[in-house]
Amino acid sequence: MSAAEPPLRTSVVADHIQRFYDTVGWDEADDGLPEDAKMFVDLRPTSQAYVEAARRRVQRHIPAEGGERYLDAGSGPVQFREYAAYSRNFDKRYCVDFSQAALDSAKRRLGDHGEYVLASLLDLPFPDNHFDCTSSLHVLYHIDAKDQLRAMRELLRVTRPGQPIIIVYGNPNGVNLFTHRNLSRVHRVLRRLQGKPRDPSIVTASGKASPLYAFRYPLRWWRQFETVASVEIHPWRSLTVDDMKLLVPGTPFGERMLAWLFKAEDRLPWLANQLGAYPMIVLKKRG
Ligand SMILES: C[S@@+](CC[C@H](N)C(=O)[O-])C[C@H]1O[C@@H](n2cnc3c(N)ncnc32)[C@H](O)[C@@H]1O
Repeated sequence: MSAAEPPLRTSVVADHIQRFYDTVGWDEADDGLPEDAKMFVDLRPTSQAYVEAARRRVQRHIPAEGGERYLDAGSGPVQFREYAAYSRNFDKRYCVDFSQAALDSAKRRLGDHGEYVLASLLDLPFPDNHFDCTSSLHVLYHIDAKDQLRAMRELLRVTRPGQPIIIVYGNPNGVNLFTHRNLSRVHRVLRRLQGKPRDPSIVTASGKASPLYAFRYPLRWWRQFETVASVEIHPWRSLTVDDMKLLVPGTPFGERMLAWLFKAEDRLPWLANQLGAYPMIVLKKRG
């Protein structure tokens, strides 16, 4: 990198996330599954139909007629076939990530269909109004809270007016039983009762220290973009992986529970948005 180029990383958080994905997150074992999927996806056969159907919800907002350029912001390795399908009607998919490991894996999967750009979402190296559709799944809440607005402004800048920007985000006010926040609350109270000093570490359901920074603004945060874009909020998936494993038995009955939940999310989207873990925000910039 020459001295004139802006730094790729802009904060301690970015440094921590980039290091995690370069060294652990996108490491693929012999089974071809990245470590990230093992940590953050419910891989039980019972849950497969539900998690795949949630991923396909993104497709509902992608223009069927396609276009020239599709931006996958924070693409990771494009690890699921439902993800790969998003750009099938576009000439090129631009995978942008600040993890080289992510881009190397994405290239193995998509080959010539992709362009692989090592860059930060805070400084996208593209002209204004360059993309016909943009998606960014599970990325924004891993960006430092103070930088999330800047990242959104970049996505709005590079996407053409009237074309969708689809964000899968987190809901800090959902009723997730096993959120890091709830667990860390229990953890803190237990420590206080035992007379131990405060411990800033956060634990996950499995008792492991959470390796990843995440910050989720409440749903109303998205309303600020209504001055420049239309903003719709749809359910993506209600359950976190930990809640799914806690609440849904690995049986045919568990599968039926999830099929019912999926239908309920579609029929009662407002409720699913308020209570669920992952909303999907669709913005279209006004021209
Ligand atoms: C949780 S993963 C999600 C990957 C993929 N979108 C998916 O849903 O499987 C987050 C990805 O975003 C990338 N990322 C996080 N913050 C970023 C930033 N500021 N600029 C570029 N990439 C970033 C990480 O390197 C990682 O590959």
